[in-house]
Amino acid sequence: MKDTLTLWWDEDEGGIRYIDQTKLPGEFSVALCTTIDRLITAIQRLEIRGAPALGVAGGYGVALAAATSTGTSFKEFLHDVKGKAERIRTSRPTAVNLGWGVERVLARVLEETDIEEARTAALSEARKIADEDTRCCHAIGDCGAALLPDKCTILTHCNAGALACSSWGTALGVIRSAVERGKEVKVIACETRPLLQGARLTAWELARDGIDVTIIGDSMAAHMMQTTQINAVMVGADRITGDAVFNKIGTYMHAVCARHHCIPFYVAAPLSTFDAIHKEREVTIEERGRDELAVLGDRTLIPDGVPVRNYAFDATPMELVSAIITEHGIVRPPFAINALLSHAGPKDNGCLK
Ligand code: MRU
Repeated sequence: MKDTLTLWWDEDEGGIRYIDQTKLPGEFSVALCTTIDRLITAIQRLEIRGAPALGVAGGYGVALAAATSTGTSFKEFLHDVKGKAERIRTSRPTAVNLGWGVERVLARVLEETDIEEARTAALSEARKIADEDTRCCHAIGDCGAALLPDKCTILTHCNAGALACSSWGTALGVIRSAVERGKEVKVIACETRPLLQGARLTAWELARDGIDVTIIGDSMAAHMMQTTQINAVMVGADRITGDAVFNKIGTYMHAVCARHHCIPFYVAAPLSTFDAIHKEREVTIEERGRDELAVLGDRTLIPDGVPVRNYAFDATPMELVSAIITEHGIVRPPFAINALLSHAGPKDNGCLK
């Protein structure tokens, strides 16, 4: 199976190249971003999206801030880069990888004392994050593939594929690795209202790889579980605290239904998605604009004046999770997250393989 890169540094243009995910599946378009304002817009519009890809974008974002800073003294340069790093870090609140990528590259910049050396160090650290993410996804795939039966139907939600990472994917990485090992895996992908990452992106990338994928409306998942058409649920994550898994809105409802029907609920994520500091109640769940729900093309779907809530993520309590698949192996209840992180170190993010 081909490994497609989602975002990378364009040496000639001095900017970030990325697959514009808002255009898929109709158009495959590679965009270029050479300013921090444009990068923040790309992140907020979900042109670049998915937790691990946001970590890579955060890292390249700091490299871009360093490359484009007009500061003449090192002090001015640092002030500028730090300010831009903070703007990137806070451009979306829920996926912890974004801040993780920003902080990792910023820490590297802070070790230097010269502008040119800081620029080189920032870019090299950002590239390291991107390469590591690809390796982590393959390691997650290797570990997770063993969990899947030789013949199975897996329900997934949103897009935790190559497009959400540097390449290969987390939840979809497990599916890709299982298919590569000769397993017969069928995927049921929820469309994922309102931005349709499942229908547009998961369907696009799996179909492109020749993997059997069928789209359902989000509210059809319970019926499919009840009628024994699903063997396991496999999702990615935007943040994993000691007490919950944050992922695309709707994930919690699948976890509740899976538990009710005794179906395993798996989460696939790299250590860069773990948050050892916060508890579930301290995490901000992004709320997005009304129009994502209220407008379809040129049609208004909800009467003017009727309020809308548009939560982008929800929190699945740990007791509903059967296992978390990481690049360091499979973690099972009671999910000793602090022990896992102190063993592997979230900063090194090094893969076992
Ligand atoms: O709002 P999005 O599209 O960035 O949300 C993405 C998700 O919820 C993914 O499932 C999650 O980031 C896992 S990606 C490997």
